[in-house]
Amino acid sequence: MQFELINVDKIYQASEENKIFGAKNINLKISEGDFMALVGPSGSGKTTILNLIAGLILPSQGSLKHGGSDITSFSLEERTKHRLDYMGFIFQDYQLLPILTAFENIEFPLQLKGFTKKEIDERVHWALKQVGLENMGHRFPKQLSGGQQQRVSIARAIAGRPQLILADEPTANLDSKTAQEIIELFKKLNQEFKLTFIFSTHDQRLIDQVKTVMYVKDGQISETRTHHA
Ligand SMILES: Nc1ncnc2c1ncn2[C@@H]1O[C@H](COP(=O)(O)OP(=O)(O)OP(=O)(O)O)[C@@H](O)[C@H]1O
Ligand SMILES: [Mg+2]
Repeated sequence: MQFELINVDKIYQASEENKIFGAKNINLKISEGDFMALVGPSGSGKTTILNLIAGLILPSQGSLKHGGSDITSFSLEERTKHRLDYMGFIFQDYQLLPILTAFENIEFPLQLKGFTKKEIDERVHWALKQVGLENMGHRFPKQLSGGQQQRVSIARAIAGRPQLILADEPTANLDSKTAQEIIELFKKLNQEFKLTFIFSTHDQRLIDQVKTVMYVKDGQISETRTHHA
């Protein structure tokens, strides 16, 4: 199933007369197995576009679709459920809960999704294995390096086998070598399991590895380039 933004504008109303176009006439289609990045300067609209795809914010104009469903017609509760069912999220600052172990952080969204205890155990072990942290499930975030914390957040994002993983500047806080390892991990997950990724990034190493680059400028996608590997 495709995720689609069609002629989408997002206007932030800073005050009565001060309107900011966070996104302008965005047309974007994400298909299964895609590996794509939104690239552009600070304030250009990358996070706004990711939040629109996720249904975290609604378009001021235009439509937001997933398969046959029109997400803009969903209630807040339906959008939350839809996000939990179909998407995984990765952030620059990992966003792990400090009072939970790595295992429990990964388990948490699966509990919300209503999987059985056995399914949850299997999925968490599978996800920890994929990110190379089989033996670290008992550790708390503060007992892990930044790269390891990002691996836990990747495990959390993939454990439910979502249709789409949204990653907002996932390598921005990592040193060069660790960033490279994390990029290799994304590539492996995309190739081995056909997991679909959309990134926002400034990281040239990541830009070099994605199949599709969308350049964002002043809220608009100014250019799209596709590599044929
Ligand atoms: N909640 C908001 N209210 C008002 N304006 C906003 C809001 N969120 C974002 N903006 C504005 O919308 C524009 C796009 O912001 P956005 O966060 O999408 O940029 P970005 O490309 O992700 O930047 P960065 O690389 O710094 O993360 C900016 O001008 C920003 O100030
Ligand atoms: Mg941003």
